[in-house]
Order: sequence, then structure tokens, then C-alpha cells
Amino acid sequence: ESEHADAAERESSDHVIAEAAALLRDGETVAFPTETVYGLGADASSTAAVERIFKAKGRPSDNPLIVHIADSEQLADVVAPGSVEAAHRKLMEAFWPGPLTIVLPVRTGGISPLVTAGLTTVGVRIPDHPVALRLLRAARCPVAAPSANRSGRPSPTLAAHVREDLDGRIGGLVDGGATGVGVESTVVQIVAGELFVLRPGGVTTEQLRAVLPDVRVHEPEREDVHASETPRAPGMKYAHYAPQGYMFVVQGDHDDEVIAWIQQDIDAAQERGESTGILTFAEHASRYRADLVLSCGSLSRPETIAQELYAALRRFDEEGIRYIAAEACPETGIGLAIMNRLRKAAAHRLVRV
Ligand code: TXA
Ligand code: MG
Repeated sequence: ESEHADAAERESSDHVIAEAAALLRDGETVAFPTETVYGLGADASSTAAVERIFKAKGRPSDNPLIVHIADSEQLADVVAPGSVEAAHRKLMEAFWPGPLTIVLPVRTGGISPLVTAGLTTVGVRIPDHPVALRLLRAARCPVAAPSANRSGRPSPTLAAHVREDLDGRIGGLVDGGATGVGVESTVVQIVAGELFVLRPGGVTTEQLRAVLPDVRVHEPEREDVHASETPRAPGMKYAHYAPQGYMFVVQGDHDDEVIAWIQQDIDAAQERGESTGILTFAEHASRYRADLVLSCGSLSRPETIAQELYAALRRFDEEGIRYIAAEACPETGIGLAIMNRLRKAAAHRLVRV
């Protein structure tokens, strides 16, 4: 009986994968799950197909896309011959399939120039998700795929988020349930023997250093502005992953001080008639009062913060919250990627208490 059901489900999902792959080969866009976030894919060799990604997302065309491949054999179609060095190979062996994007010289003629935004390099990765891998194998082409959200919105970790943002604007959507890591891949580039983390993500700096002990690993700069220096105004500087409300991050050495500061600030906002929100963690949630207190994962298991972050940011919009204080988390391990996204969501407004 249940074996029957399993077989039927597999067959129907085989059908879904085949249909999605056919759409990709026809130059259409298809959203699909990866282990990080949902991606919006298109045939990376076709400029007309890649144009559809930019159009659906409303994405600025100077922002390059990541190319997804099914296996390392496909790498030769994407990157320049002879460009893979020993250190790259070590990274691939350690982290592929997985949430690591490696920037390499692009192979001329292979990939649409729209994918690389005119750069001479391309970001490439093998995703670690059964649905993504089956789709990439069936499509038989490198697939350019940014996160499947409207530009500026939090990345989608559920098929429902993709529908929310892109319904009616894309060729297809493969629903694979919730993604795993919850934040995007780590993007790295090796320049003159030193590794630069261009975007922190699912693979941590500690993991990179462990695999390349002899290579200098540079983390990205953390740019902050003080919340008090940025007056609230409509049409404020464009922010990534941002809720529609005014959000800022609060960081301090002592949890009790941070919690007290946030509560006082939120109480004052409530007095002014603002709709208020607090983004915190399981350990602290019961200590706050606001219109919407969201617990996003647990400080004792930071990977759960990454998993829940983007869905939480979307909730503030759904509830119409206009003033949001977010608690910072330690910037080690996956915390570096979490804080990178939180800073962007808050347009780099940070309060130190
Ligand atoms: O986890 C992920 O990486 C997800 C899933 C869908 O795979 N994809 C994703 O793509 O996050 P996207 O388009 O949102 O991120 C692309 C970013 C660019 O904004 C840039 O930071 C970096 O990847 N990137 C891509 N190509 C690059 C290049 N040639 N040089 C430097 N950075 C590049
Ligand atoms: Mg994105």
C-alpha cells in the first residue's frame, strides 16, 4: 500500500522534474529549491532566457548571477580552461555539492554575458539538494539562478514565498518544501593566492580555514551606520532583504542590557503610536512586549536562526509592523552570515549598547 503511494509520488515528481527541465531548455524561468534558498533558474547560455530572470525579479542588471551545475564535469562548460587551481579543487572536494560559490574566470562563449554582468569572472556552485540536482541533470545545461524573490525582498525559504513574490511572472515552480540552510551560499574568490569571502553564507570562515590552512582568508568588511544618524524618511536608501518598516540592529556585550535598551526604545515607539516589532531568539522572547515579538531560532543552535531568519523578516510585513528592533547574534560560524543579512535588512543601522 504505502510502497504504492511512494512509487506514485516518485513518478509524479519525476514528471514534475521532466516538465521543469523542458521549460528550462525552452528558455523559460523555473523556480526550484536548493539547500540554501529557492533559486529562479534559466539556461545560463541563453541571453533571452537570462533576461527573463532579471525581468521577473526586477533585478538591476549590474548584479551578476550564480551558475548552478550538476557535477564537476559540467565545470568545463562554464569556466575558462586551466583556471581551476589546487586550492579551488580542495574547496570543491570539501564543499561540493554544498553552499559554496566559487568565482572563477569565465569561459568565453559558454555563458551569456548577462549572467556575469559583463565581468570576466563567473560564480559557480553545485547545490546540495536532491530536487535541484535532479533538475540540473535533466536540464543538461548550466542554470543561472539568483534567489527567487522580488529584488530587495528577503530570499525565499518556502515555495509559498516564491508565489508571494513571483506568481504570474515565472514559467514554473518546483515545490520541494522548506530549504535547509536558510541563508545563501558563501561566495569566495582566490586572488594572488589569498581567499576573499565576498559574501558570507552557508559555509563558515572556520570551515574554509580548516580546508585551506596555508591560505590567508579575508572576511568582508562590516559597514555600520548609527541608527541615530539615519532619520526615518520614506524612500530611504535602498536596502536588501528589507522589511517595509524601519528596522535596526542592537548589539551589546551583555544580554540584559540589550534587552532592557530594546524594551525601553520599543515602549517609547509604542507611545508615539508606532506599530512595533522585535526580532529576537527563543531564549529571550518571553522577556519582551511589542505588537509582534518574533523568536527566530535559538542562540544555542545558530543554524536554526539562519533557517528561520527570512521567513521572520517577511512576517513583519504581513503584520504591517513599521518599527522593528532586531537583536544581534555573535558573529562566529554561521552567525557571520546571519549578521550580514540582518545588517543589510536594517540598511546598516546599528545601535551599540
Ligand atoms: O545560495 C545561493 O547562492 C542562492 C541559491 C539560489 O543558489 N543564489 C543566490 O544568488 O544567492 P544571488 O543572485 O542572489 O547572488 C548572486 C551574488 C551576487 O550578488 C554577487 O555577490 C555574487 O553572487 N557573484 C556572482 N557572480 C559573481 C562574480 N563573477 N564575481 C563576484 N561576485 C559574484
Ligand atoms: Mg539574492
